[in-house]
Amino acid sequence: MTDTSSAAGGEPAGVPEFPMPRAARCPFDPPPALRSLQEQGPLARVRLWDGSTPWVVTRYAEQRALMADPRVSADVTRPGYPAPAPIPKGSFASFILMDDPEHHRLRRMVQAPFTVKRVEEMRPAVQRIVDDLIDAMLAGPKPVDLVEAFALPVPSLVICELLGVPYDDHDFFQDNSKTVIRRDAAPEERAAAGARLNAYLDDLVGRKLAEPADDLLSRLTERVKAGELSRAEAAQMGVLLLIAGHETTANMIALGTLALLRHPDQLALLRESDDPRLVAGAVEELLRYLNITHSGRRRVALADIEICGQVIRAGEGMIMANDIANRDPEVFPGPDDLDLRRDARRHVAFGFGVHQCLGQPLARMELQVVYSTLYRRIPTLSLATDLERVPFKHDGQVYGVYELPVTW
Ligand code: HEM
Repeated sequence: MTDTSSAAGGEPAGVPEFPMPRAARCPFDPPPALRSLQEQGPLARVRLWDGSTPWVVTRYAEQRALMADPRVSADVTRPGYPAPAPIPKGSFASFILMDDPEHHRLRRMVQAPFTVKRVEEMRPAVQRIVDDLIDAMLAGPKPVDLVEAFALPVPSLVICELLGVPYDDHDFFQDNSKTVIRRDAAPEERAAAGARLNAYLDDLVGRKLAEPADDLLSRLTERVKAGELSRAEAAQMGVLLLIAGHETTANMIALGTLALLRHPDQLALLRESDDPRLVAGAVEELLRYLNITHSGRRRVALADIEICGQVIRAGEGMIMANDIANRDPEVFPGPDDLDLRRDARRHVAFGFGVHQCLGQPLARMELQVVYSTLYRRIPTLSLATDLERVPFKHDGQVYGVYELPVTW
């Protein structure tokens, strides 16, 4: 076994910077330098913006083992936590950045609408939303920005309805969410955007305390009245669900469409089949292939952990680079091929362990409706610009495109 504590305590030389750049010509592939690290072994040291040198975990098996390990913490306030950017003072964390039992106490209060059964009940309404937005696009001028006209409205309308947030406020919450998850925004800028969202949700919670409706925020106010949850916690969970509920899926819709347009043989499979199993499989493969949460899952060790002949010391940070784990050739042969017929269900695009994505049944259903409708209703959909001119979100904690001009 190799004891790396001296390297950890001192300043290891030749440690690569993280995040690493993608290759300009391969916007869908993880950074080549991350692939080299994976080839060398499951664990490596990387250097972050603050000079710290946490571990990056590059292989699938080790990542799943560590994410399921109770000695591994997601608590952002612990020393050694490898933050992707400076943490703004007074920022509002929710249960995604907490450990059990606090994490479990809060998560279980919001999980009911995200079960597969409840999500399936929403499918017809989501289909209507998708059809109406496509009707509006077809009736309007072209080219059109698919992000603004379609990719953002679909999940925003759905999460607004579920939470009880007025969709008319979408410009406000979309803009602020974008700033909160921009890695390169100044900490004050991100803190201000977070505070605006928090104040907005706090106000909504206040209104629903007085006048409850049939939505998730109103159900949280029952917990507040019962003394099980503070108003501040209810607002923080509202912020988490609102951001997580629209940003991620929107990026999967737009980036997924771009990836399919670049792989016409794969796009044809979706356009020409009405088999729901093919569509469901395509969603899993696109989640694996694109892995939009490209900043990696951030964790810190609570105790010394031995893994593959290494010791991760208590207090050392870990980055579970799920983008490269989803391209681990041991698990996904020919990992860099987009192959909609492969069985990709084991991917870690939704994370793994207790923090595994709460909204995954909803995200899956929305993407199934979108991918089975958009290309069939607009069979000649095409990119209205050169790939080189598409603005990618290299600076974001969630990968995607800022704009996607399309025509038909
Ligand atoms: C394609 C879309 C989505 C992707 C790729 C995605 C990805 C992820 C990932 C990787 C995590 C794990 C975080 C970690 O381990 O640190 C996560 C957690 C979470 N996601 Fe999603 N997500 C998506 C859609 C959604 C939607 C629609 C919602 C609905 C509100 C949602 C709500 C959440 C919440 C609340 C958590 C925190 C869970 C916890 O800490 O227990 N996500 N998501």
